[in-house]
Amino acid sequence: MGYYTVEGGRKIGGEYTVHGSKNAVLPILAATLLAADEVVLENCPLISDFYASLEILKSLGCSVVLEGNTVTVDSVHISSCEIPEEQVSCMRSSILYLGALLGRKKEAKLGHPGGCVIGKRPIDLHLRAFEKMGVEITEKDNIFFCKSPKLLGYDIYLEFPSVGATENILLLAVKAEGTTVIHNAAREPEIIWLAKFLRACGAEIYGEGSPTIMIEGVRKLHGAYFSIPFDRIEAGTFLCASAITGGEIYLYGAEKQYMESTLEILDQMGCGQRADENGIFLQAPKRILSDFTLRTGPYPAFPTDMQPLMMSLLTLGKGTCMISETVFEARFRHVNELCKMGADIRMQGQNAAVFGVEKLYAAEVVGTDLRGTAALLLASLAAEGKSIVHGAEYMERGYEKIEDVLTSLGGKVHLIS
Ligand code: EPZ
Repeated sequence: MGYYTVEGGRKIGGEYTVHGSKNAVLPILAATLLAADEVVLENCPLISDFYASLEILKSLGCSVVLEGNTVTVDSVHISSCEIPEEQVSCMRSSILYLGALLGRKKEAKLGHPGGCVIGKRPIDLHLRAFEKMGVEITEKDNIFFCKSPKLLGYDIYLEFPSVGATENILLLAVKAEGTTVIHNAAREPEIIWLAKFLRACGAEIYGEGSPTIMIEGVRKLHGAYFSIPFDRIEAGTFLCASAITGGEIYLYGAEKQYMESTLEILDQMGCGQRADENGIFLQAPKRILSDFTLRTGPYPAFPTDMQPLMMSLLTLGKGTCMISETVFEARFRHVNELCKMGADIRMQGQNAAVFGVEKLYAAEVVGTDLRGTAALLLASLAAEGKSIVHGAEYMERGYEKIEDVLTSLGGKVHLIS
């Protein structure tokens, strides 16, 4: 368990190259199980969730070779269909190995996934879709035993455009017999990038990025060479780090077309910004404007992962912002900790009213999930004095050495393990 010491009141700015996307590489690593031969993925983020996924692939019998941030995976000799409990419980995206293993081996055994404490995060949408496609699922002591003697394409209607369920159905459908159509599919860029990877392996997928995705099952998928696209939440995090400290920053590799809703909010806050073919530039205003409402939702709405980060920014706004968190039912765990730093936030159910204050003050605060801890780190950058932010183990799941990056951008942040 590690924590950060942060000397606040220093501008964060300069130039930074955004890493590969955590939420793109995790499903793509699961998808490598479907390829009959070698897959090479470059621009991988060297974060703990990435390393945990490599361990899952190795425990299944895959050969995994990591050189720098390029990984080569060969799943030709898969020897197991079981994802050990300890690996499942630490990472939500391990549920995606269910679809990949069933697509490859027609059987799978794994426990209920864990993940951040931002909500109960059930997997009913995944399992209901799987059963419609011919998967026999039995659950005993929170372990799922799945068999799919015959995988058949099916018309799946998702009650909610779940990212994980859409990804899992894609992984199952690409080698199912016949046609699968996912209605009310998630439209996140990570879905588009997973479909692009699967297509590079020979899958037949149409409509990704729209609410309706059609998949024609194929008998075999071959290997591919693929570069992991940029992490739009990491990019948003560093835009907010600069905005909250009155700095200006240029992010190489950030693509405006996948960040429209985040950039729109930053524009409403009065941040100057410019996008070109190489990246995005942001300049903080003298004081952030915050008289508006902010509502999270499935893409292309404002992303729930950016909600904690934006909330930190809004605590110093000129005005009052009403935030509605519509995606997860417990994603305000950072609020009380922000109030310890002088923020004025009042919660009611899925809503939080953020009354802007002039200053934040250094404090010792505790993060309990990835983006919530990132929000506390951002607030500590703006707070006067030296803060202590607990929760480094969460940060390392989604950000590569953020203490070094923020220090290189003008901050004074140290990790104490
Ligand atoms: C993915 O989680 C991301 N994780 C999350 O990022 C992100 O917040 C989320 O999508 C929404 O964009 C990864 O990609 C690894 P969902 P996922 O299924 O797939 C409910 C981060 O910080 N639901 O779209 O779990 C669920 O409870 C993480 O990087 C069901 O009810 O998200 C939630 O309320 C946090 N039944 C809502 O849907 C199901 O079967 C959205 O979940 C599945 C989901």
